[in-house]
Amino acid sequence: MKSFIQALPKVELHLHIEGTLEPELMFELARRNKVSIPYQTIEDVHEAYQFHNLQSFLDIYYQGANVLITEQDFFDLTWAYLLRCQKDNVLHSEIFFDPQTHTDRGIEFDTVVNGIHRALTQGQDQLGISSQLILCFLRHLDEESAIKTLQQAALHKNKIVAVGLDSSEAGNPPQKFQKVFQQALDYGFLTVAHAGEEGPASNISDTLELLKTSRIDHGVRCSDDEILVAKLIKDRTPLTICPLSNIKLKVFENMEQHNLVELLRKGICVTINSDDPAYFGGYMTDNFLAIDHAHDVTRDEFGEFTFNAIEASFISTQEKDRLYAITRDFLDTYPN
Ligand code: HPA
Ligand code: ZN
Repeated sequence: MKSFIQALPKVELHLHIEGTLEPELMFELARRNKVSIPYQTIEDVHEAYQFHNLQSFLDIYYQGANVLITEQDFFDLTWAYLLRCQKDNVLHSEIFFDPQTHTDRGIEFDTVVNGIHRALTQGQDQLGISSQLILCFLRHLDEESAIKTLQQAALHKNKIVAVGLDSSEAGNPPQKFQKVFQQALDYGFLTVAHAGEEGPASNISDTLELLKTSRIDHGVRCSDDEILVAKLIKDRTPLTICPLSNIKLKVFENMEQHNLVELLRKGICVTINSDDPAYFGGYMTDNFLAIDHAHDVTRDEFGEFTFNAIEASFISTQEKDRLYAITRDFLDTYPN
């Protein structure tokens, strides 16, 4: 199964580009930009990456992002991720970025978006990996700040397909961002949002209703509400689930207890993603392998995760058909 999973065509829909900052690049950028970081060695970093919940991770994650200063830094970060995608047979990726993490420390919005976008264009040209960009508002900040960020994003409408919502879910429900999401829809952006990761199932229902999102990021807490589960099945609402993240942040005690296989078998449009791979110990293939290790999943079911991700993606019907065909052909011809 390991070589099958490695070779399986994949589509990633839940990936924070700041969460792909590997310790080696963090050290290099700290040196290049003369930014001090609280680690001397790679071992120090690994020791610090022991999290007990979402907030304990976010504190370390925002600190790591301080080494990102120039457009070239954002390019290098994104290019390193795309090379990893190539290794994992990721054909298409929809990538979150958190502009407020950078603009709040004096980095220009343009610096961030242009660096990432230049790497994505090169990824399409040189690696054949397609991608989309999704701007995430930080939910621990106020809506006014999100609105200012949206206005900057509108100037880069051609580079950004959707807006999302991340950071601390507890105490920052979807209601807080209803106005800015409506404005984003009016500008013609699609919407997604993290919900039901640490927060209750009601955050998922409220997100769908109030923020009119096309997908739910995480959404694993839907299991607490049978009516919601039935609605997700009926509407084919995609969940972008991140197994290794959920274990690292103690959303589930262990991978055996993770509910994503059960949700898939109920008929929910479940997808597998890596979230913040540099912090949670694995990219796409690692996440698939972790599920394989803990659950009895068939090849066809692994294929279903890719079909679901294609269905849930923000690409054209024509492009979806191309990816469906590649995946179908892989499943039909991979030796037993
Ligand atoms: N949840 C909330 N905020 C985040 C995450 C996450 O999984 N990753 C990066 N920011
Ligand atoms: Zn996330």
